[in-house]
Amino acid sequence: MATQPVEATFPDAKHRASTSTQWWRSAVIYQVYPRSFADSNGDGIGDLPGITSRLEALAYLGIDAIWLSPFMRSPQKDAGYDVSDYQDVDPLFGSLDDFDAMVARAHELGLRVLVDLVPNHTSDQHAWFKLALESAPGSPQRQFYHFKDGRGPNGELPPNNWLSMFGGPAWTRITNPDGTAGQWYCHLFDSSQPDLNWENPEVRQAFEEILRFWLNRGVDGFRVDQPHAMGKAAGLPDHPDIERAGAGFIEGEPSPPMWFQESVHEIFRGWRKILDSYPGERAMCGEAYVLPLEFMALWVRPDEFHQTFNFRYLDCDWQPAMLRQTINESFAAFDSVGAPSTWVLSNHDVVRHASRLGGDYGRPTASNGIGPDDPQPDNELGLRRARGATLFTLALPGSMYLYQGEELGLPEHTSLEPQYRQDPTFFRTKGIRVGRDGARVPLPWQAGTSATNGFNDTGAGWLPQPDVYRQYSRDLQQGVTGSTLELYRTAIALRNQLGLGHGSFEWAEEFVGETSLGFINNGILVVHNFGSEPIALPSKKVLAASFTETDGKLEPNDTVWLRL
Ligand code: NOJ
Ligand code: CA
Repeated sequence: MATQPVEATFPDAKHRASTSTQWWRSAVIYQVYPRSFADSNGDGIGDLPGITSRLEALAYLGIDAIWLSPFMRSPQKDAGYDVSDYQDVDPLFGSLDDFDAMVARAHELGLRVLVDLVPNHTSDQHAWFKLALESAPGSPQRQFYHFKDGRGPNGELPPNNWLSMFGGPAWTRITNPDGTAGQWYCHLFDSSQPDLNWENPEVRQAFEEILRFWLNRGVDGFRVDQPHAMGKAAGLPDHPDIERAGAGFIEGEPSPPMWFQESVHEIFRGWRKILDSYPGERAMCGEAYVLPLEFMALWVRPDEFHQTFNFRYLDCDWQPAMLRQTINESFAAFDSVGAPSTWVLSNHDVVRHASRLGGDYGRPTASNGIGPDDPQPDNELGLRRARGATLFTLALPGSMYLYQGEELGLPEHTSLEPQYRQDPTFFRTKGIRVGRDGARVPLPWQAGTSATNGFNDTGAGWLPQPDVYRQYSRDLQQGVTGSTLELYRTAIALRNQLGLGHGSFEWAEEFVGETSLGFINNGILVVHNFGSEPIALPSKKVLAASFTETDGKLEPNDTVWLRL
């Protein structure tokens, strides 16, 4: 495993049980990546009717809510994170009626539904951007985005030194209707994703309407994409350290001009008021890559987001010293504002943890993916560790995010050939970064029923499954003792029965060391073995174990829950 320095030391966490019953404080939220979940019409792309048809499988798993990655109208240059109409479903995924049917069925099954909101940028096919291109520099239409004249004698140089997160400059020059070279527009991601100008009150108002549109359709809340990028420093100055400008946040340094601007907080307060004005407990989770956690906590003050993803935890090496510090920091930061921590191990942007933990791939959110020419993971070891990591994480108080397929123990597709790649990162870096497609492959539902193992009947897939996916198919795991699916299901059910999501936390000192971590939540002792030798366990009742039954010992890479 890559090592990270353990900088400051935080006092050991003591987290008190929550008395609140607000669902999002302890929820297990399952991320559905619509294009790869289930395909009802056989065109190779998952869709909303496909999701509806498989919701019972999610209810079986015992989760509380689903979060859907974007399914709104989009040219799909960044798999839907490039929205051209925020108030419609892309025909690729179905219709608004299909959406309503999906929400109704989810609610019948007791599942809440969060949808993805992408406010930092639109697609370049959005009507606002098309109008801006047709309009003159300085016109109100151009004020929806960040248009600027270029630098250099003929405006041939980008207005500043910012870089795109997907590689290359964060600026693209437009061609005027008369064929001459025009202004530049800012895009922190792909050139097909122009950044919106959040200083413009019309943008703010439009998004409030978008929020209401989905809330009126019955959604339980939002996952908000890149909220830390929405504000830009006045005048769009150069980043002071260009070499690291693309790296996002640099701990301990002043905030970069394109991230973490104070101006965003009043926007979130406005959104919170809108959510609170609806019946039920609507909630929003910010994809705020903000560190350190003390700073992230400001985003979940009682009148802002309900939750943020705890990227510190996702990015943490799976080793005890770093994890211990991360958990301490998490409780210290989030408890200080009365927000729950979230915990997450995988999503559609990082290498699946069943593969990541089977090799040395560095910080997940900075990872470039794993391609056929890279060292390949040991997926057997990875899965064993992943099961241990998941069982450990599911016992932490707070809310847990799962990514579709992790309940099957799915590995990353690490041998995907270049001709299948779709992630703009791959193209913008000329293949140097293979990108995120390996985590986004269609799910195997029924072994051998089609070339996609039941993702659809036709066997078509927008990305091919690796051969090995067949053996992870859901039908081979449902009801099978010891399968990864049943491990998740048992652990989620126990977590609910034992109140762990709302529970308390303190370290179990005798298991906190160089090769293990142990903690106690609501009278349950949870221990993970990071070492290479078995650990002797107290003779207490085993409630859950990530691998073999333990017989008084905890094998390397395993986690156990014991009743004290
Ligand atoms: C974060 C999303 O999770 C990712 O998939 C997307 O590419 C970027 N935001 C840009 O929207
Ligand atoms: Ca389809």
